[in-house]
Amino acid sequence: MKTHAAVLWQPGEPVEILEVDLAPPKAGEVLVKIAACGLCASDLHVVDGDLPEPMPLVLGHEASGVVVQTGPGVERLKKGDHVVLALVPSCGRCRPCREGRPNFCEVGGRMAATGTLADGTSRLSVNGTVLHHFNSVSSLADYAVVPESAAVAIRQDMPLDVAALFGCAVITGYGAVVNTARVETGASVAVWGCGGVGLNCIQSARLVGAAAIVAVDVSTEKLEAAGRFGATTLVNAQADDPAPKVREATGGLGADYVFEAIGREETVRQAWDAARAGGTVVVVGIIPKGQTLTIDPWHFIYEKTLKGCFLGSARIAIDIPRLADLYVEGRLQLDELVSRRIRLAELPEAFDRLRAGDVLRQVAVFD
Ligand code: APR
Ligand code: ZN
Ligand code: ZN
Repeated sequence: MKTHAAVLWQPGEPVEILEVDLAPPKAGEVLVKIAACGLCASDLHVVDGDLPEPMPLVLGHEASGVVVQTGPGVERLKKGDHVVLALVPSCGRCRPCREGRPNFCEVGGRMAATGTLADGTSRLSVNGTVLHHFNSVSSLADYAVVPESAAVAIRQDMPLDVAALFGCAVITGYGAVVNTARVETGASVAVWGCGGVGLNCIQSARLVGAAAIVAVDVSTEKLEAAGRFGATTLVNAQADDPAPKVREATGGLGADYVFEAIGREETVRQAWDAARAGGTVVVVGIIPKGQTLTIDPWHFIYEKTLKGCFLGSARIAIDIPRLADLYVEGRLQLDELVSRRIRLAELPEAFDRLRAGDVLRQVAVFD
């Protein structure tokens, strides 16, 4: 079949909306009619060459849609299911899967590294040229063929346009707090960066009952949003040196948990300085590949922990239905994250807005 899709030929080149060929789902795969797809900083990193991926590819990895066809052997999903797509397919059989860490599945890792699906081939092409899948999702398109395990069924009363955000921004921020750090009720939390990911760290810290929630950003608008998402203290890093301000807001000690949701060396260093003795810094932001990080090693004698985080240590089959429940119960803010709804054709301008940093989430919606 034919589908419109956002094709990137090489980093640095403009994103093209082309009519491409999409082959039917093979064993263990499903064809999904995309309802909505959020635009994430990671898509921009790929476009700008900060995140190397097999080229050419079809962009998009934060999506929702409806299953329209299932390949042989698909058991968990059926035609008509509403699904959220996330970039971590899992085989259920490899060692990380058996150990309960499906976001590190070996088969999923191979699909991401090679830009193909489980059998090592792609379903996408244009005029005979193979296009790669972006982390097995490639959802900036009318239709996508994805591994069954990368699509999680959600309740039908969950609105599909905002459900798209579960696939990356929400699960990353929520998972960082709930899965990676396991923040306890009453703990103090600081969050560097109040974009789509950071705001979800903030609202999840509120959900688990953190006492102090300090938000750090350089933008007044983003800080205002942080206040609406549950931050109790707002720190403008352009006006003040942020680490001392965070310590001040947490009884002089520093925060129990600090989340860096930007992906810059300077802000990881500030976050490290703002954690209390015995505290944990979770680096959620993606620092461009090839860069290095210098932090003050003296803080190790304060027993601080520096932790990585990939997609919120997600177990998507558990986390995504829970997130849908939280939204339907009115406990999760999602509509407030959407700055703009766009059409696929507006993608080039949308990437410019993302680069300028003046939007929260832009969501491409499909008919
Ligand atoms: N100090 C404080 N805040 C900053 C700074 C800084 N030096 N530089 C940028 N920011 C803020 C921006 O103002 C913005 O609000 O960080 C926020 C980043 O948000 P987005 O650009 O919306 O990025 P987001 O999609 O939230 O992703 C954040 O997580 O998954 C990764 O690849 C993603 O590295 C990225 C990070
Ligand atoms: Zn993303
Ligand atoms: Zn596996």
